[in-house]
Amino acid sequence: MIEFIKKYPEMCLNAVKIAEKVDIPDYKFNKIVICGMGGSAVSGDLLKDLLKNRISIPIDVCRDYHLPAYVDKDTLTFCISYSGNTEETLSQFVDCVKRKSKIIGITSGGKLEEWCKNFNLPYVLIPSGYQPRSALPYLLFSIIVCLQKLGVVNLHKEIDETIEILKKIKIDSVKKLANSMKDSTIVVYSSDEFSGVVRRVKTQINENSKMPAKYDVFPELDHNEIVGYQNERLNNNSFVLILRDKDEPEEIKARIEITKDLIKGKVKGIEEIWAEGKSKLARMMSLVFLGDVLSYELAVLNNVDPVEVENIVVLKKRLKERLNLVEKLENNIKIKKMK
Ligand code: F6R
Repeated sequence: MIEFIKKYPEMCLNAVKIAEKVDIPDYKFNKIVICGMGGSAVSGDLLKDLLKNRISIPIDVCRDYHLPAYVDKDTLTFCISYSGNTEETLSQFVDCVKRKSKIIGITSGGKLEEWCKNFNLPYVLIPSGYQPRSALPYLLFSIIVCLQKLGVVNLHKEIDETIEILKKIKIDSVKKLANSMKDSTIVVYSSDEFSGVVRRVKTQINENSKMPAKYDVFPELDHNEIVGYQNERLNNNSFVLILRDKDEPEEIKARIEITKDLIKGKVKGIEEIWAEGKSKLARMMSLVFLGDVLSYELAVLNNVDPVEVENIVVLKKRLKERLNLVEKLENNIKIKKMK
């Protein structure tokens, strides 16, 4: 896992090279939807963090079997499944085909690749052999490059800066942090600007460190979550990690300081990690990277294998035995088997 994490700069660079070569039709659209689950869907959350204040086109992430009613022929839909075999994402793909949305696939193979080929749809084929969540740079940077090709954004400079920051980032402080957080219930907070990043950190702690964790964002958490801290007995094993950014607006800074003051002494610990870099993409990816390293260090301290995700594998297997949904979907849209 740590080898995958260290490969982040290389993965970003490779993703750009691979996605640049994909022919994207001259799609016209007025909204963007990212369809996926788990480690694949997080790329959509990060895209939303990155672009929501910059482009006027709405961006949404759908993590379910079916798409919301507004997805139509004027929607650009990224169907993203690293394995290419996740049933919810394949079910969304079928919805996309039926609604005639503009589809781009991102996958390392599986049914998604097969189906994109069958329908003659553009797709970015990223390398196989990773855990889906470890392939995040491939997924996110592929979407960004597709959007550049479609003229939605121009992030060349941000991409370059991000790769440089990821090469230079120091991880020693995160190792120390893991030591103080082990054996706690981990709670991760950030501003709403980084809501995709904070979700990613939480899910990496779940999957890599095998620990329960939760997340929330400022300012919303100041309207409900903080009241839960009034019950000290239930919080004395919680460790609060706040993802910070030097460009936070004054009001967010003030909220974080006041919130810390209200909860200190009621929780096991409060620590912060700070984003690095100038551009939004670099700041986001620096936090994602540090969160990944933290989750790896926690796995080491917990003496667990950060790579395996047995519960997910078993659940997917049992679902297949019970419902065999993918085959039903395949019949539903009459996909011919590829030779
Ligand atoms: C596994 C992981 C999971 C998967 C999810 C969907 O590393 O992070 O959350 O991402 O089960 O699978 P894919 O990404 O293959 O569609």
